[in-house]
Amino acid sequence: MQPERWRQAWRDGRTGFHREAVHPDLLAQAEWFVAGGRRVLVPLCGMTVDLQHLAEHGLEVVGVELSGLAIGRLFEREGWPPAVDDHGPFRRHRAGRVTVLEGDIFDLDPTLVGTFDRFWDRAALVALPPEMRARYVPQIRRLAAPGARLLQNAFTYAPGLREGPPFSVPADEVGRLYSGAALERARHEPLEVAGGEFMVSTYRITL
Ligand SMILES: C[S@@+](CC[C@H](N)C(=O)[O-])C[C@H]1O[C@@H](n2cnc3c(N)ncnc32)[C@H](O)[C@@H]1O
Repeated sequence: MQPERWRQAWRDGRTGFHREAVHPDLLAQAEWFVAGGRRVLVPLCGMTVDLQHLAEHGLEVVGVELSGLAIGRLFEREGWPPAVDDHGPFRRHRAGRVTVLEGDIFDLDPTLVGTFDRFWDRAALVALPPEMRARYVPQIRRLAAPGARLLQNAFTYAPGLREGPPFSVPADEVGRLYSGAALERARHEPLEVAGGEFMVSTYRITL
């Protein structure tokens, strides 16, 4: 979807992807992902509670999100009045260890935001159509410190079952996109909330 369509989805309340609880992958993979982490990027973060969870575990957290409405709700929910300023092409919202950059992930540049040793991708890669996924992954790699760890959650479903987002991103595509990285599938099971039509996979990727 184009940026304005995402912003409109937030205005219309078409945000069924949002969860009120910390994502189970973050809890299950805490030892691999959270322990030893310093700086985490959460691309396409929406208003996820995972940002607060990661900050509570001592990481410096940076989210990127197009929708100012989502970001406003996020900081309001946490009771954190953010400091807001302009940062390059982004509107930057900061409170404590959490920064959310309002703008387009494709505008992120390491000279502006530095690099990251952790990436949490939940409903980010799968939110993008194929041609954008092919641009998104090099963007993540550009922002990665050597040996950075990426926890990747992805869905698969039968071709033609539905139109994305979320898009079906099978294991061979994840492997191709992240070729050269060390990749391990830590979970692959039916997704209950979708009546078993989807499979959900979790990958541990070392960049
Ligand atoms: C499917 S939602 C997932 C949100 C969040 N990761 C979660 O798990 O709740 C995708 C989010 O990405 C945002 N988004 C889409 N394209 C983006 C882009 N190019 N740059 C930054 N944010 C984007 C949308 O506004 C939306 O909130």
